[in-house]
Amino acid sequence: MARTCRSGAGRRSEAVSFPAMEDLPEHVAANREAWDRMAPDYVEGGRRSWAADEPSWGIWGVPERELHLFPDDLAGKDAIELGCGTGYVSAWLARRGAKPVGIDNSPRQLETARTFQREFGIEFPLLLGNAEHVPYPDASFDFAVSEYGAALWADPYAWIPEAARLLRPGGQLLFLTNGLLMQLCVEELIANDPAKNVLQRPLFGMYRTVWPNDTSVEFHLPHGAWIDLLRGAGFEIERLVEIKAPPDAVASPRFSFVTPAWAWQWPSEEAWIVRKRT
Ligand SMILES: C[S@@+](CC[C@H](N)C(=O)[O-])C[C@H]1O[C@@H](n2cnc3c(N)ncnc32)[C@H](O)[C@@H]1O
Repeated sequence: MARTCRSGAGRRSEAVSFPAMEDLPEHVAANREAWDRMAPDYVEGGRRSWAADEPSWGIWGVPERELHLFPDDLAGKDAIELGCGTGYVSAWLARRGAKPVGIDNSPRQLETARTFQREFGIEFPLLLGNAEHVPYPDASFDFAVSEYGAALWADPYAWIPEAARLLRPGGQLLFLTNGLLMQLCVEELIANDPAKNVLQRPLFGMYRTVWPNDTSVEFHLPHGAWIDLLRGAGFEIERLVEIKAPPDAVASPRFSFVTPAWAWQWPSEEAWIVRKRT
Protein backbone atom coordinates (compact mmCIF):
# COMPACT_ATOMS: atom_id res chain seq x y z
CA MET A 1 0.00 0.00 0.00
CA ALA A 2 1.32 3.46 -0.81
CA ARG A 3 0.23 6.76 0.65
CA THR A 4 0.64 10.13 -1.00
CA CYS A 5 1.97 13.24 0.68
CA ARG A 6 3.46 16.62 -0.02
CA SER A 7 7.23 16.32 0.05
CA GLY A 8 7.85 19.62 1.81
CA ALA A 9 8.37 23.30 1.30
CA GLY A 10 9.98 25.08 -1.62
CA ARG A 11 11.13 24.01 -5.04
CA ARG A 12 10.36 20.30 -4.73
CA SER A 13 6.90 20.37 -3.23
CA GLU A 14 5.34 17.93 -5.66
CA ALA A 15 3.20 15.06 -4.36
CA VAL A 16 5.21 11.91 -3.63
CA SER A 17 4.32 8.41 -2.48
CA PHE A 18 5.86 6.48 0.37
CA PRO A 19 5.06 3.01 1.64
CA ALA A 20 2.96 2.45 4.73
CA MET A 21 4.72 0.88 7.73
CA GLU A 22 3.41 -2.60 6.89
CA ASP A 23 5.05 -2.41 3.46
CA LEU A 24 8.52 -1.45 4.70
CA PRO A 25 11.31 -4.03 4.54
CA GLU A 26 11.84 -5.59 7.97
CA HIS A 27 15.12 -3.76 8.67
CA VAL A 28 13.59 -0.41 7.64
CA ALA A 29 10.58 -0.91 9.93
CA ALA A 30 12.88 -1.94 12.81
CA ASN A 31 15.09 1.11 12.26
CA ARG A 32 12.09 3.46 12.06
CA GLU A 33 10.91 2.22 15.45
CA ALA A 34 14.44 2.49 16.89
CA TRP A 35 15.10 5.99 15.55
CA ASP A 36 11.71 7.30 16.66
CA ARG A 37 12.67 6.07 20.13
CA MET A 38 16.20 7.55 20.02
CA ALA A 39 15.23 10.88 18.43
CA PRO A 40 15.00 12.89 21.71
CA ASP A 41 18.64 12.01 22.47
CA TYR A 42 19.75 13.63 19.21
CA VAL A 43 18.07 17.02 19.66
CA GLU A 44 20.81 18.75 21.64
CA GLY A 45 23.66 17.59 19.38
CA GLY A 46 21.58 18.39 16.32
CA ARG A 47 21.03 21.96 17.52
CA ARG A 48 24.79 22.41 18.12
CA SER A 49 25.55 21.17 14.60
CA TRP A 50 22.85 23.38 13.04
CA ALA A 51 24.34 26.38 14.87
CA ALA A 52 27.90 25.65 13.72
CA ASP A 53 29.18 27.67 10.79
CA GLU A 54 31.85 25.16 9.91
CA PRO A 55 30.84 21.53 9.36
CA SER A 56 32.45 19.00 11.65
CA TRP A 57 32.14 15.33 10.94
CA GLY A 58 31.33 12.15 12.76
CA ILE A 59 31.53 11.17 16.40
CA TRP A 60 34.75 13.13 17.01
CA GLY A 61 33.58 16.31 15.27
CA VAL A 62 36.63 16.61 13.00
CA PRO A 63 36.40 19.99 11.21
CA GLU A 64 35.75 20.19 7.49
CA ARG A 65 38.88 22.36 7.06
CA GLU A 66 40.94 19.27 8.01
CA LEU A 67 39.02 16.62 6.06
CA HIS A 68 37.83 18.51 2.95
CA LEU A 69 34.92 16.14 2.39
CA PHE A 70 32.53 18.62 0.76
CA PRO A 71 33.10 19.59 -2.89
CA ASP A 72 34.32 23.19 -3.30
CA ASP A 73 31.62 24.19 -5.76
CA LEU A 74 28.28 23.59 -4.04
CA ALA A 75 26.57 26.82 -5.09
CA GLY A 76 23.42 26.14 -7.08
CA LYS A 77 23.85 22.36 -6.88
CA ASP A 78 20.88 20.03 -6.34
CA ALA A 79 21.74 17.92 -3.33
CA ILE A 80 20.09 15.10 -1.40
CA GLU A 81 20.89 13.88 2.09
CA LEU A 82 20.06 10.19 2.46
CA GLY A 83 19.06 9.64 6.08
CA CYS A 84 19.18 13.29 7.07
CA GLY A 85 18.15 12.86 10.71
CA THR A 86 17.99 16.29 12.32
CA GLY A 87 19.09 17.82 9.02
CA TYR A 88 22.27 19.67 9.94
CA VAL A 89 24.31 18.39 6.99
CA SER A 90 21.61 19.73 4.68
CA ALA A 91 21.69 23.04 6.57
CA TRP A 92 25.46 23.25 5.96
CA LEU A 93 24.79 22.56 2.26
CA ALA A 94 22.13 25.27 2.12
CA ARG A 95 24.52 27.79 3.72
CA ARG A 96 27.01 26.95 0.96
CA GLY A 97 24.44 27.80 -1.71
CA ALA A 98 23.29 24.27 -2.56
CA LYS A 99 19.61 23.31 -2.85
CA PRO A 100 19.26 20.34 -0.47
CA VAL A 101 16.47 17.85 0.02
CA GLY A 102 16.54 15.63 3.11
CA ILE A 103 14.97 12.18 3.24
CA ASP A 104 14.70 10.24 6.49
CA ASN A 105 12.93 7.12 7.70
CA SER A 106 11.99 8.50 11.15
CA PRO A 107 9.01 10.83 11.57
CA ARG A 108 10.38 11.99 14.94
CA GLN A 109 13.82 12.83 13.59
CA LEU A 110 12.08 14.85 10.86
CA GLU A 111 10.01 16.68 13.49
CA THR A 112 13.28 17.79 15.08
CA ALA A 113 14.63 18.82 11.68
CA ARG A 114 11.51 20.93 11.04
CA THR A 115 11.86 22.60 14.43
CA PHE A 116 15.45 23.54 13.58
CA GLN A 117 14.41 24.84 10.15
CA ARG A 118 12.10 27.32 11.90
CA GLU A 119 14.65 28.11 14.63
CA PHE A 120 17.53 28.80 12.22
CA GLY A 121 15.47 30.20 9.33
CA ILE A 122 16.73 27.72 6.74
CA GLU A 123 14.03 25.89 4.79
CA PHE A 124 14.46 22.92 2.49
CA PRO A 125 12.22 19.96 1.62
CA LEU A 126 12.12 17.15 4.17
CA LEU A 127 10.68 13.86 3.05
CA LEU A 128 9.64 10.84 5.10
CA GLY A 129 10.88 7.76 3.28
CA ASN A 130 13.38 4.98 2.78
CA ALA A 131 16.67 6.00 1.14
CA GLU A 132 16.63 2.66 -0.67
CA HIS A 133 13.65 3.88 -2.77
CA VAL A 134 13.59 7.63 -3.21
CA PRO A 135 10.60 9.16 -5.03
CA TYR A 136 12.59 11.39 -7.38
CA PRO A 137 13.29 10.83 -11.07
CA ASP A 138 16.62 9.56 -12.37
CA ALA A 139 19.44 12.12 -12.53
CA SER A 140 17.76 14.68 -10.23
CA PHE A 141 20.84 15.61 -8.17
CA ASP A 142 24.46 16.73 -8.46
CA PHE A 143 25.50 15.69 -4.95
CA ALA A 144 24.34 13.03 -2.49
CA VAL A 145 25.54 12.73 1.09
CA SER A 146 25.02 10.50 4.09
CA GLU A 147 26.70 10.90 7.45
CA TYR A 148 25.74 7.77 9.41
CA GLY A 149 22.31 7.81 7.70
CA ALA A 150 21.69 5.38 4.83
CA ALA A 151 25.45 4.82 5.01
CA LEU A 152 24.98 2.76 8.17
CA TRP A 153 21.28 1.89 8.47
CA ALA A 154 20.16 1.09 4.92
CA ASP A 155 21.05 -1.97 2.87
CA PRO A 156 24.07 -0.96 0.76
CA TYR A 157 22.94 -3.26 -2.06
CA ALA A 158 19.75 -1.17 -2.28
CA TRP A 159 20.80 2.38 -1.39
CA ILE A 160 24.06 2.57 -3.39
CA PRO A 161 22.37 1.74 -6.74
CA GLU A 162 19.59 4.14 -5.72
CA ALA A 163 22.12 6.93 -5.09
CA ALA A 164 23.66 6.20 -8.50
CA ARG A 165 20.21 6.45 -10.11
CA LEU A 166 19.46 9.77 -8.41
CA LEU A 167 22.76 11.40 -9.43
CA ARG A 168 23.53 13.04 -12.73
CA PRO A 169 26.58 11.77 -14.62
CA GLY A 170 29.61 13.34 -12.92
CA GLY A 171 27.64 13.75 -9.68
CA GLN A 172 29.34 12.98 -6.40
CA LEU A 173 28.37 10.79 -3.45
CA LEU A 174 29.96 11.30 -0.02
CA PHE A 175 29.19 8.91 2.80
CA LEU A 176 30.63 8.51 6.26
CA THR A 177 30.24 5.48 8.48
CA ASN A 178 31.97 3.34 11.10
CA GLY A 179 35.50 2.32 10.21
CA LEU A 180 35.97 -1.25 9.02
CA LEU A 181 38.79 -1.99 11.44
CA MET A 182 36.74 -0.78 14.37
CA GLN A 183 33.87 -3.06 13.40
CA LEU A 184 36.26 -5.98 13.47
CA CYS A 185 37.57 -5.00 16.90
CA VAL A 186 34.25 -4.44 18.69
CA GLU A 187 32.95 -7.47 20.49
CA GLU A 188 29.63 -6.16 21.72
CA LEU A 189 28.07 -2.75 21.59
CA ILE A 190 27.67 -2.30 25.32
CA ALA A 191 29.00 0.30 27.73
CA ASN A 192 32.53 -0.30 28.99
CA ASP A 193 33.23 -2.71 26.18
CA PRO A 194 34.84 -0.55 23.52
CA ALA A 195 36.88 -1.68 20.53
CA LYS A 196 39.81 -3.91 21.48
CA ASN A 197 43.33 -3.96 20.08
CA VAL A 198 42.71 -7.49 18.86
CA LEU A 199 40.32 -8.64 16.13
CA GLN A 200 37.03 -9.82 17.62
CA ARG A 201 34.92 -10.90 14.67
CA PRO A 202 35.37 -12.23 11.15
CA LEU A 203 35.66 -10.04 8.08
CA PHE A 204 34.21 -12.66 5.77
CA GLY A 205 30.43 -12.57 5.81
CA MET A 206 30.28 -9.06 7.26
CA TYR A 207 26.99 -7.45 6.14
CA ARG A 208 23.88 -7.17 8.32
CA THR A 209 24.48 -6.54 12.03
CA VAL A 210 22.07 -6.58 14.96
CA TRP A 211 23.88 -5.90 18.21
CA PRO A 212 22.97 -7.76 21.40
CA ASN A 213 20.14 -6.12 23.37
CA ASP A 214 19.22 -3.94 20.40
CA THR A 215 16.53 -4.02 17.74
CA SER A 216 18.06 -1.73 15.12
CA VAL A 217 19.77 -3.17 12.06
CA GLU A 218 23.11 -1.85 10.74
CA PHE A 219 25.01 -2.73 7.60
CA HIS A 220 28.78 -3.03 7.28
CA LEU A 221 30.82 -4.30 4.37
CA PRO A 222 34.45 -5.30 3.85
CA HIS A 223 36.33 -2.78 1.71
CA GLY A 224 36.56 -5.20 -1.22
CA ALA A 225 32.79 -5.57 -1.22
CA TRP A 226 32.30 -1.77 -1.07
CA ILE A 227 34.64 -1.35 -4.05
CA ASP A 228 32.85 -4.00 -6.12
CA LEU A 229 29.44 -2.58 -5.20
CA LEU A 230 30.37 1.04 -5.92
CA ARG A 231 32.07 0.28 -9.23
CA GLY A 232 29.26 -2.06 -10.26
CA ALA A 233 26.73 0.71 -9.58
CA GLY A 234 28.59 3.06 -11.92
CA PHE A 235 30.84 5.00 -9.52
CA GLU A 236 34.55 5.74 -9.67
CA ILE A 237 36.17 5.88 -6.25
CA GLU A 238 37.99 9.16 -5.60
CA ARG A 239 38.91 9.00 -1.92
CA LEU A 240 38.63 6.74 1.12
CA VAL A 241 39.30 8.99 4.09
CA GLU A 242 40.34 7.16 7.27
CA ILE A 243 39.39 9.52 10.06
CA LYS A 244 41.66 9.95 13.08
CA ALA A 245 40.27 11.30 16.35
CA PRO A 246 41.67 14.76 17.14
CA PRO A 247 44.19 15.13 20.02
CA ASP A 248 41.57 16.73 22.29
CA ALA A 249 38.91 14.04 21.67
CA VAL A 250 37.05 12.97 24.80
CA ALA A 251 35.21 9.72 25.42
CA SER A 252 31.45 9.97 25.01
CA PRO A 253 28.98 7.66 26.80
CA ARG A 254 26.87 7.64 23.62
CA PHE A 255 29.78 6.29 21.60
CA SER A 256 31.03 3.84 24.19
CA PHE A 257 32.02 1.41 21.44
CA VAL A 258 35.33 3.25 20.94
CA THR A 259 37.77 5.28 23.03
CA PRO A 260 39.89 8.23 21.88
CA ALA A 261 43.02 6.16 22.66
CA TRP A 262 41.86 3.54 20.13
CA ALA A 263 40.82 6.13 17.56
CA TRP A 264 44.20 7.91 17.78
CA GLN A 265 45.79 4.73 16.45
CA TRP A 266 43.23 3.31 14.01
CA PRO A 267 40.36 4.73 11.97
CA SER A 268 37.10 4.44 13.90
CA GLU A 269 35.33 6.22 11.02
CA GLU A 270 35.73 6.32 7.27
CA ALA A 271 34.38 8.54 4.51
CA TRP A 272 34.02 7.46 0.90
CA ILE A 273 33.93 9.99 -1.92
CA VAL A 274 32.84 8.55 -5.25
CA ARG A 275 31.74 10.03 -8.57
CA LYS A 276 29.18 8.71 -11.03
CA ARG A 277 30.79 7.89 -14.35
CA THR A 278 29.96 10.23 -17.22
C1 LIG B 1 22.67 9.11 13.19
S1 LIG B 1 21.32 9.72 12.23
C2 LIG B 1 22.26 10.43 10.91
C3 LIG B 1 21.71 11.74 10.43
C4 LIG B 1 22.45 12.98 10.83
N1 LIG B 1 23.83 12.97 10.39
C5 LIG B 1 22.29 13.16 12.31
O1 LIG B 1 23.18 12.75 13.07
O2 LIG B 1 21.26 13.70 12.73
C6 LIG B 1 20.69 8.29 11.39
C7 LIG B 1 19.43 8.58 10.60
O3 LIG B 1 19.30 7.64 9.55
C8 LIG B 1 17.90 7.45 9.37
N2 LIG B 1 17.66 6.22 8.59
C9 LIG B 1 17.85 4.94 8.97
N3 LIG B 1 17.52 4.10 7.99
C10 LIG B 1 17.09 4.87 6.95
C11 LIG B 1 16.59 4.58 5.66
N4 LIG B 1 16.48 3.33 5.19
N5 LIG B 1 16.25 5.62 4.87
C12 LIG B 1 16.35 6.90 5.30
N6 LIG B 1 16.81 7.23 6.53
C13 LIG B 1 17.18 6.23 7.34
C14 LIG B 1 17.37 7.39 10.78
O4 LIG B 1 15.98 7.58 10.83
C15 LIG B 1 18.18 8.47 11.47
O5 LIG B 1 17.50 9.70 11.48
